Amino acid sequence: MHPISPAAEAVPETSLDGNRFVRACLRLPVDRTPVWFLRQAGRYMQEYREVRKHHTLVEICKQPEIAAEVTITAAEKLGVDAAIIFADLLLPLEAMGLDFEFQAGEGPVVHHPVRTASDVHSLHIDRAGDLAYVAKAIEKVAAHFRNRLGIIGFCGAPFTLASYMIEGGSSKNYIHTKRMMYSDPSAWRLLLDKIVMVLEEYCRLQVAAGADVIQIFDSWVGSLCLADYRAYVFEASKRLVRSVQQMGVLVIYFGVDTAGLLSEMASTGADVIGLDWRQPLDETWRAVGHNHAVQGNLDPITLFAPLEVLEQRVHEILRAAGGRPGHIFNLGHGIVPGTPVENVQAVVRMVREFRLEPNTEPANG
Ligand code: CP3
Repeated sequence: MHPISPAAEAVPETSLDGNRFVRACLRLPVDRTPVWFLRQAGRYMQEYREVRKHHTLVEICKQPEIAAEVTITAAEKLGVDAAIIFADLLLPLEAMGLDFEFQAGEGPVVHHPVRTASDVHSLHIDRAGDLAYVAKAIEKVAAHFRNRLGIIGFCGAPFTLASYMIEGGSSKNYIHTKRMMYSDPSAWRLLLDKIVMVLEEYCRLQVAAGADVIQIFDSWVGSLCLADYRAYVFEASKRLVRSVQQMGVLVIYFGVDTAGLLSEMASTGADVIGLDWRQPLDETWRAVGHNHAVQGNLDPITLFAPLEVLEQRVHEILRAAGGRPGHIFNLGHGIVPGTPVENVQAVVRMVREFRLEPNTEPANG
């Protein structure tokens, strides 16, 4: 856990580094904008591909020594301000009694997807302790970085996790998910309740192990209209956000294609809202409300552009943030395989070196 108190203001400059990310989440002034990347450890990185030659993804996650090493290597190679624990969104499925695997080229496959009320009833809620390996990896990462970097734990959001359980994998139209939502709302609610119960325990383990911040990935929530988000998802997301905050850490709530949902997502009370790249950051920050910090929002595919274009986009985002406390630079979604590592490193440099021209600063906060 991180000391989140006004005393953080008094920390001398030299020890600010580790706090830069956490301070920005708290909307406190920082010496420069903190930066990290969604999926900063992954197949685009040679070191990760080496490890993957010898272990499956799930094996890496389940061996704290290796998961910690992958996490640390990526964060150090990039020179970012925060390390996100190497794990996967789907790990809690196993603890709830659903087997899955990652099939090459196909993504995740859940062998017996949840389709009926009785499937929902059979899910376990008392085995979050099986996920202690993630907490062990966090302990190792936290011991390595101490206060130098922010340590991010994470979990899926109720909707996004439910969608994998029900669809049995990735989906385009979420037909099975929405069908359960509309046609069996009590099974749907029970499913979300059970997911929240497991995630609360899972996050508690991560927080006890040293996570400063928990990011809740609602990656596919953008498939919902506002009315459905309100009716079927908001309460469960809010409950998870609030209970993680009560553990004494900050929460980042992230989704993709969420322009129409942002103010409702902010109503969960999450400290930081993740933004994708489809709308300019200044407009979306206004929609979220300046009483929340924001994270984002470079299109990850911009990392394939020439450096001049990349720099222009990075600067646009930083100017749109306008030096307002509470911006964490990130991508709008994860780094994809094939991304040149040197371009990711270049973005870190650009963010570090950026200075607002005085005339572009907002007139007032
Ligand atoms: O560095 C980091 O960001 C931490 C690692 C991380 C992974 N998964 C490792 C991983 C994180 C934060 C996740 C979260 C995750 N997993 C999400 C939410 C993030 C998002 O992108 O919105 C989702 C939707 C998943 C589910 C998942 N995991 C899918 C759909 C896939 C297959 C994608 C593909 O291209 O094959 C994965 C696999 C996965 N998880 C990989 C990594 C590095 C790549 C596959 C591999 O190494 O074999």
